[in-house]
Amino acid sequence: MSPSTAIPWKELREQARHATAASYAPYSHVTVGACAVTTDGRFVVGANVENASYGLTLCAECSLVSDLARVGGGRLLAVSIVAGDGEPIAPCGRCRQVLFEHGGNDLLVDAGDGVAPTPLGHLLPGAFGPVDLDIRKSQ
Ligand code: THU
Repeated sequence: MSPSTAIPWKELREQARHATAASYAPYSHVTVGACAVTTDGRFVVGANVENASYGLTLCAECSLVSDLARVGGGRLLAVSIVAGDGEPIAPCGRCRQVLFEHGGNDLLVDAGDGVAPTPLGHLLPGAFGPVDLDIRKSQ
């Protein structure tokens, strides 16, 4: 799927909502699901998995990136992240960085009905990424 191809936002949103059913959120009771399409047209999904040691919680986006690796990797083209009510939520700061690794500035993030999708580069301007490692290596 090329970036110019129409992105299946409705399906992404539906699959993200469906993924919330797999969420493990006994502490916050905020179920989150995520669904992305890759540049070659594959769908990957994730759900949040909380932990009694709260800070070890895995966000839905982390789960999604694990799914991406599981199905062979590739680049993310567009992603929808929703709460249990099916409405898009903003990705947290850590997940913006996690998504950046696999989609870069051009990854489109669902911003809700009637709102243009937001490029990840707008949500995480000036991100540190793989390129910076090459530039900064001193040995
Ligand atoms: N959560 C996500 O899964 N993704 C985000 O980008 C924001 C927050 C989850 C983590 C936690 O299980 C719950 O939402 C409440 O913070």
